[in-house]
Amino acid sequence: SKKGFIFDLDGVIVDTAKYHYLAWQKIAEKLGIEFTPHHNEKLKGVSRVRSLEIIMELGKITATEQEKQLWLTQKNDDYLSYLTDIDSSEILPGVMPILSHLETLKQPIALGSASKNARPILEKTGIIDLFDAIVDGNDVSQAKPDPEVFLVAARKLNLAPEDCIVFEDSEAGIQAANIAGMVSVGIGDAKVLHEAAFNFPDFTHMDTAFIDGLLKKVKA
Ligand code: G6P
Ligand code: MG
Repeated sequence: SKKGFIFDLDGVIVDTAKYHYLAWQKIAEKLGIEFTPHHNEKLKGVSRVRSLEIIMELGKITATEQEKQLWLTQKNDDYLSYLTDIDSSEILPGVMPILSHLETLKQPIALGSASKNARPILEKTGIIDLFDAIVDGNDVSQAKPDPEVFLVAARKLNLAPEDCIVFEDSEAGIQAANIAGMVSVGIGDAKVLHEAAFNFPDFTHMDTAFIDGLLKKVKA
């Protein structure tokens, strides 16, 4: 049977979560707001605008629309500066064998990312052609944990949500997958991603038998 395999991008396929963090840290520092890796977990998976709001809430500050636009631009310019020279080496360990296995099995693959920079990243890393559907921050209006991005991906693959599996490194993304009625697979710290149906510290710990098992599962 066909299942839809929906991948988040940042922190799942590519090692770009660290660049988002560095760029947000600079903004927080400029605003005099303490911003640690712990705080950063709340930003993972959520949109750029929502991320800034979370940082501002953290520092209990308000700003004009103009200031906010400026900080969003600064953050993105800084983030993009880390991406100028990226190539396939940015793909996280263990990801390619899983993508290749899905290709061999002819299982549909989709991207479900909040990022507006998703397409150039997939192009630079040379994997854009592996995706049957791409849904990114330009296609949706609701940030994760809203399930919109994954529901749109399922629709593009012509599959029911319950036939989709989502790979996510963020709390918000796992929640979005669960709300969508999909199988959630956490990639990262199991304590942070405790709401996931399955968890792996990274893709090197996931073998192809796990994928085969998901395909065999009959509906309850
Ligand atoms: C992903 C990342 C977030 C990022 C968001 C928006 O979900 O996990 O850290 O803020 O996308 O990305 P963008 O590239 O559009 O700023
Ligand atoms: Mg992510």
